Amino acid sequence: MSDINFDGRVAIVTGAGGGLGRTYALDLAARGAQVVVNDLGGSVDGKGGDHAAAQKVVDEIKAAGGEAVPNYDSVMTPEGGANIVKTAVDAFGKVDVVINNAGFLRDKSFLKLTWDDLDAIIDVHLKAAFYVSQPAFAIMKENGYGRFVFTASNATFGNFGQTNYAAAKNGLIGLSNTIAVEGARSGILSNVIMPVAKTRMTEELLGSFADVLGPEYVTPMVAYLSSEACTTTHGAYSAAGGRYARVFTGLAPGWFAGKGASVAAEDIAAHIEEIEAQEGYIVPGSTTDEIMALAGLFN
Ligand SMILES: NC(=O)c1ccc[n+]([C@@H]2O[C@H](COP(=O)([O-])OP(=O)(O)OC[C@H]3O[C@@H](n4cnc5c(N)ncnc54)[C@H](O)[C@@H]3O)[C@@H](O)[C@H]2O)c1
Repeated sequence: MSDINFDGRVAIVTGAGGGLGRTYALDLAARGAQVVVNDLGGSVDGKGGDHAAAQKVVDEIKAAGGEAVPNYDSVMTPEGGANIVKTAVDAFGKVDVVINNAGFLRDKSFLKLTWDDLDAIIDVHLKAAFYVSQPAFAIMKENGYGRFVFTASNATFGNFGQTNYAAAKNGLIGLSNTIAVEGARSGILSNVIMPVAKTRMTEELLGSFADVLGPEYVTPMVAYLSSEACTTTHGAYSAAGGRYARVFTGLAPGWFAGKGASVAAEDIAAHIEEIEAQEGYIVPGSTTDEIMALAGLFN
């Protein structure tokens, strides 16, 4: 097995003061990366703030002989995002890797959801990833190299009490896929991780099952996706307890009414089984792939 190292690479890990982000920062630093350890501190529902979290991880990295600087900005504002990237440039001269990981929960069943809970979750998971990634993308494009990892969740499959979180996390898949398309010519790869791991965010929810789901099982997948060795882009991967698996949106062949046919709701009802059938799907790598598949029907 060849060694995966980050010699000469600069990585930003948001929300790296604890939980999964801390393990990514430690692993990348141990493999030679210069790391910006971003964390606002604060509680699991996004309240408060404390510099100690990021500083402690920087101290750990340095004690192990690695290189890191802390950043305490919130990812939730454009200024915060820009300053996180500036911290990397000021300290290490560039950015090669961005692991968008920071986040918190505001779970409520749909009818109890307040607009504050919606805004906070869209801001910290979805908009934050734009705020950090756009200034980093500019630098990566100029350098002809970059790796993005966005953190989604199996909540995107639908999970009671997580409308805000599931919607924000699903948005990240569209963001990553489009960055993969726009970055393709500049050596920029973009992928999504969907972790399941025991952290302060999940340990109550997962109960005793949490004990076999250590964060250390998610870290290798994220380190791979962040590395020069990574060969994939436009992907999403579930990582949990030592099981790693692709998650994708497939486009099935469906039912084609025929060129110029008139179609009514009754025709849809009559063909719903063909429309629902999941065999023979493709996994579009871009919008163009669907348009091409569609155009093929009209030739
Ligand atoms: N643990 C899981 O099973 C699981 C499952 C699916 C998705 N996730 C996602 O993984 C990521 C990491 O979660 P975790 O489980 O390690 O939880 P965690 O609470 O341990 O870590 C999240 C970190 O983000 C930081 N943070 C919160 N708001 C911030 C802000 N505005 N600016 C900067 N930092 C901020 C927190 O201080 C914390 O250190 C999150 O995006 C979470 O939604 C986790």
